[in-house]
Amino acid sequence: MFGVATGAVADALISPSPTSSARHSAPGSRASPERPYAHAVSIVKINAITVPRERFDEFAERFASRAGRVSSADGFEAFELLRPNDDREVCLVMTQWRSEEDFRAWVSGPDFAAGHSQHREAGPVGTASELWSFDVLEREESAGA
Ligand code: HEM
Repeated sequence: MFGVATGAVADALISPSPTSSARHSAPGSRASPERPYAHAVSIVKINAITVPRERFDEFAERFASRAGRVSSADGFEAFELLRPNDDREVCLVMTQWRSEEDFRAWVSGPDFAAGHSQHREAGPVGTASELWSFDVLEREESAGA
Protein backbone atom coordinates (compact mmCIF):
# COMPACT_ATOMS: atom_id res chain seq x y z
CA MET A 1 0.00 0.00 0.00
CA PHE A 2 1.34 3.37 -0.84
CA GLY A 3 -0.30 6.74 -0.84
CA VAL A 4 0.36 10.32 -1.73
CA ALA A 5 2.05 12.40 0.89
CA THR A 6 0.16 14.70 3.18
CA GLY A 7 1.25 16.03 6.56
CA ALA A 8 3.55 13.65 8.43
CA VAL A 9 3.79 11.37 5.42
CA ALA A 10 5.00 14.30 3.37
CA ASP A 11 7.76 14.87 5.92
CA ALA A 12 8.85 11.25 5.69
CA LEU A 13 8.82 11.41 1.92
CA ILE A 14 10.94 14.50 1.62
CA SER A 15 13.24 14.26 4.65
CA PRO A 16 15.97 11.78 3.60
CA SER A 17 18.99 13.82 2.54
CA PRO A 18 22.00 12.68 0.55
CA THR A 19 25.16 11.87 2.47
CA SER A 20 28.70 12.57 1.35
CA SER A 21 31.71 14.52 2.53
CA ALA A 22 31.80 18.32 2.74
CA ARG A 23 35.15 18.52 0.94
CA HIS A 24 33.73 20.02 -2.22
CA SER A 25 31.82 22.92 -0.67
CA ALA A 26 32.32 26.11 -2.60
CA PRO A 27 32.82 29.45 -0.79
CA GLY A 28 29.68 31.55 -0.68
CA SER A 29 27.45 28.64 -1.61
CA ARG A 30 24.47 27.19 0.21
CA ALA A 31 26.45 24.00 0.74
CA SER A 32 26.24 22.15 4.03
CA PRO A 33 27.64 18.82 5.22
CA GLU A 34 24.37 17.24 4.12
CA ARG A 35 24.33 18.92 0.70
CA PRO A 36 27.98 19.54 -0.17
CA TYR A 37 27.26 20.39 -3.82
CA ALA A 38 24.48 22.85 -3.05
CA HIS A 39 25.64 26.05 -4.72
CA ALA A 40 23.04 28.62 -5.65
CA VAL A 41 21.61 26.23 -8.21
CA SER A 42 18.32 24.57 -8.83
CA ILE A 43 17.31 21.22 -7.46
CA VAL A 44 15.49 18.44 -9.30
CA LYS A 45 12.97 16.17 -7.59
CA ILE A 46 11.84 13.17 -9.55
CA ASN A 47 8.96 10.97 -8.52
CA ALA A 48 9.64 7.60 -10.16
CA ILE A 49 6.35 5.72 -10.42
CA THR A 50 6.09 2.09 -11.44
CA VAL A 51 3.07 1.76 -13.72
CA PRO A 52 1.94 -1.51 -15.30
CA ARG A 53 2.12 -1.11 -19.09
CA GLU A 54 -1.59 -1.80 -19.52
CA ARG A 55 -2.34 1.24 -17.34
CA PHE A 56 -0.02 3.69 -19.15
CA ASP A 57 -2.93 5.37 -20.95
CA GLU A 58 -4.90 5.80 -17.74
CA PHE A 59 -1.81 7.24 -16.06
CA ALA A 60 -1.30 9.73 -18.92
CA GLU A 61 -4.98 10.73 -18.80
CA ARG A 62 -4.71 11.55 -15.11
CA PHE A 63 -1.86 13.90 -15.83
CA ALA A 64 -3.69 15.39 -18.83
CA SER A 65 -6.50 16.39 -16.45
CA ARG A 66 -4.30 17.26 -13.47
CA ALA A 67 -4.88 20.38 -11.40
CA GLY A 68 -1.93 22.19 -13.00
CA ARG A 69 -1.32 24.26 -9.91
CA VAL A 70 2.29 23.24 -9.46
CA SER A 71 3.41 25.84 -12.01
CA SER A 72 2.19 28.69 -9.82
CA ALA A 73 4.03 27.45 -6.72
CA ASP A 74 6.74 29.72 -5.32
CA GLY A 75 10.15 28.63 -6.59
CA PHE A 76 8.74 26.29 -9.26
CA GLU A 77 10.95 26.15 -12.35
CA ALA A 78 9.93 23.18 -14.51
CA PHE A 79 7.81 20.08 -14.80
CA GLU A 80 8.08 17.17 -17.22
CA LEU A 81 6.18 13.91 -17.38
CA LEU A 82 8.38 11.19 -18.90
CA ARG A 83 7.01 7.89 -20.14
CA PRO A 84 9.49 5.17 -21.11
CA ASN A 85 9.72 4.30 -24.81
CA ASP A 86 11.67 1.17 -24.10
CA ASP A 87 10.33 -1.82 -22.17
CA ARG A 88 10.65 -0.25 -18.69
CA GLU A 89 7.57 0.40 -16.57
CA VAL A 90 8.83 3.37 -14.55
CA CYS A 91 7.33 6.76 -15.43
CA LEU A 92 9.17 9.85 -14.18
CA VAL A 93 7.54 13.01 -12.88
CA MET A 94 10.40 15.49 -13.11
CA THR A 95 10.12 18.76 -11.22
CA GLN A 96 12.72 21.48 -10.85
CA TRP A 97 12.82 24.03 -8.02
CA ARG A 98 14.77 27.07 -6.94
CA SER A 99 15.48 25.42 -3.57
CA GLU A 100 14.76 22.48 -1.29
CA GLU A 101 12.66 24.81 0.87
CA ASP A 102 10.42 25.74 -2.06
CA PHE A 103 9.88 22.08 -2.88
CA ARG A 104 9.03 21.24 0.74
CA ALA A 105 6.59 24.12 0.95
CA TRP A 106 4.78 22.87 -2.18
CA VAL A 107 4.60 19.28 -0.90
CA SER A 108 3.20 20.47 2.43
CA GLY A 109 0.66 22.86 0.94
CA PRO A 110 -2.77 22.75 -0.70
CA ASP A 111 -1.45 22.79 -4.30
CA PHE A 112 0.18 19.39 -3.83
CA ALA A 113 -3.05 17.98 -2.42
CA ALA A 114 -5.03 19.50 -5.31
CA GLY A 115 -2.55 18.04 -7.81
CA HIS A 116 -3.11 14.57 -6.35
CA SER A 117 -6.87 14.63 -5.91
CA GLN A 118 -7.53 11.92 -8.52
CA HIS A 119 -4.96 9.69 -6.91
CA ARG A 120 -6.56 10.27 -3.54
CA GLU A 121 -10.13 9.78 -4.72
CA ALA A 122 -9.77 7.09 -7.41
CA GLY A 123 -6.79 5.19 -5.99
CA PRO A 124 -3.29 4.77 -7.37
CA VAL A 125 -2.54 3.85 -10.98
CA GLY A 126 1.01 2.93 -10.09
CA THR A 127 2.18 0.05 -7.94
CA ALA A 128 5.12 1.82 -6.26
CA SER A 129 6.89 5.17 -6.18
CA GLU A 130 10.27 6.48 -5.17
CA LEU A 131 11.44 10.06 -4.74
CA TRP A 132 14.83 10.92 -6.29
CA SER A 133 16.59 14.17 -5.41
CA PHE A 134 19.38 15.97 -7.30
CA ASP A 135 21.32 19.22 -7.35
CA VAL A 136 21.71 20.66 -10.85
CA LEU A 137 25.46 20.98 -11.34
CA GLU A 138 25.53 22.06 -14.96
CA ARG A 139 23.05 22.79 -17.72
CA GLU A 140 23.49 23.58 -21.36
CA GLU A 141 20.81 24.20 -23.94
CA SER A 142 20.96 24.36 -27.69
CA ALA A 143 21.71 27.90 -28.89
CA GLY A 144 19.06 27.39 -31.57
CA ALA A 145 16.34 26.22 -29.18
C1 HEM B 1 3.14 8.24 -3.44
C2 HEM B 1 3.68 9.21 -4.16
C3 HEM B 1 3.07 9.78 -5.43
C4 HEM B 1 2.29 9.20 -6.41
C5 HEM B 1 1.83 7.76 -6.51
C6 HEM B 1 1.97 10.22 -7.38
C7 HEM B 1 1.19 10.06 -8.52
C8 HEM B 1 0.64 11.11 -9.23
C9 HEM B 1 -0.48 11.06 -10.15
C10 HEM B 1 -1.17 9.76 -10.62
C11 HEM B 1 -0.74 12.32 -10.58
C12 HEM B 1 -1.83 12.77 -11.60
C13 HEM B 1 -2.96 13.48 -10.84
C14 HEM B 1 -3.74 12.58 -9.92
O1 HEM B 1 -3.81 11.35 -10.13
O2 HEM B 1 -4.32 13.11 -8.93
C15 HEM B 1 0.23 13.19 -9.94
C16 HEM B 1 0.36 14.56 -10.10
C17 HEM B 1 1.56 15.21 -9.88
N1 HEM B 1 2.63 14.72 -9.15
FE1 HEM B 1 2.59 13.05 -8.06
N2 HEM B 1 2.60 11.36 -7.00
C18 HEM B 1 3.27 11.14 -5.82
C19 HEM B 1 4.07 12.05 -5.16
C20 HEM B 1 4.68 13.11 -5.84
C21 HEM B 1 5.90 13.76 -5.49
C22 HEM B 1 6.75 13.49 -4.26
C23 HEM B 1 6.14 14.68 -6.46
C24 HEM B 1 7.34 15.58 -6.56
C25 HEM B 1 8.21 15.43 -7.55
C26 HEM B 1 5.06 14.63 -7.41
C27 HEM B 1 4.88 15.43 -8.53
C28 HEM B 1 3.66 15.60 -9.18
C29 HEM B 1 3.27 16.75 -9.98
C30 HEM B 1 4.15 17.97 -10.29
C31 HEM B 1 1.95 16.52 -10.40
C32 HEM B 1 1.06 17.49 -11.22
C33 HEM B 1 0.41 18.45 -10.19
C34 HEM B 1 -0.14 19.72 -10.79
O3 HEM B 1 -0.19 19.85 -12.00
O4 HEM B 1 -0.52 20.65 -10.00
N3 HEM B 1 4.20 13.65 -7.01
N4 HEM B 1 1.06 12.41 -9.14
